[in-house]
Amino acid sequence: MRNPLVLSAGVRSNYADLLIRAAQEGAGAVTSKSCSIEPRPGHPNPTAMIHGQVVMNAVGLSNPGVKEESEQIKKAIKEAGVPVIASVFGKNAEEFVQAAKVMETAKPAMIELNISCPNVGREGRMFSADPAATEEIVRAVKKAVKLPVSAKLSPNVTDIAEIAIAAKKGGADAITAINCLSGMWIDAYARKPYLANRIGGLSGPGIKPVALRCVYQIREAVDLPIIGGGGIASGIDAAEMLMAGATAVSIGSAVCYRKNAFGEIAKELQEFMDKQGYSKVSDIKLE
Ligand SMILES: Cc1cc2nc3c(=O)[nH]c(=O)nc-3n(C[C@H](O)[C@H](O)[C@H](O)COP(=O)(O)O)c2cc1C
Repeated sequence: MRNPLVLSAGVRSNYADLLIRAAQEGAGAVTSKSCSIEPRPGHPNPTAMIHGQVVMNAVGLSNPGVKEESEQIKKAIKEAGVPVIASVFGKNAEEFVQAAKVMETAKPAMIELNISCPNVGREGRMFSADPAATEEIVRAVKKAVKLPVSAKLSPNVTDIAEIAIAAKKGGADAITAINCLSGMWIDAYARKPYLANRIGGLSGPGIKPVALRCVYQIREAVDLPIIGGGGIASGIDAAEMLMAGATAVSIGSAVCYRKNAFGEIAKELQEFMDKQGYSKVSDIKLE
């Protein structure tokens, strides 16, 4: 990777053009929006809101299905010029396996397992709340595909370290953390929640301390590479995330409120490294 900044899943789209644009803006790698075997319409609008630097969404994992999305991934690989990570999800281990196998034909750099979406309600379990389910899904996918696999974890758990350990036991090659926090926002005048789904995922700068804590705890627990993110919006934020133990840093919501986010954050990180005398990203560590 030309820099450690990764576009996180879902913030841009299921389609190649916006992944390519993130690469053109300076991302070191890009992740596609999560897809399932069959197409899904997702939740009704409004599915997202931005209030200051608070971002809330309940998109409901809308996607065109893995067959179409794998075609988009092929196009992105050809044109983005940076590693493309493909995110998949399912309602059980078998569906994860099927989606991953179709996605593998597009030859992404890695498959990311979204076992941590907070917005699927009772219809889908949040597998990353359960170490046994996490291990089962990772193991099943690892058995079925040759590509590296990362497990994307949720902060909405009591002990994220035990989930990371379970993912490693299942054979994960990497961990991605964190997905959104579960939240809600109400319009008092309308007497309604802002999001049609009522409950949604909270992201943006306010969640950075939670993300740093989670990545730190995962780093203490496992020796896998970590794509760490949550609320990262500046080069200094990225340096903090690397110090917490991340190997690479994901940027999601910042692309909604910061123009040319990747180019600017990469420049700021480089300036920080130059001033502080770091010659490589992997030297950025806590004392
Ligand atoms: C609009 C939106 C859609 C998202 N869709 C997905 C998704 O499809 N799959 C996934 O794993 N994470 C998804 N996420 C979570 C992000 O990838 C990221 O983990 C989270 O937003 C925290 O990082 P941030 O504060 O930098 O945005 C989504 C986030 C947002 C804001």
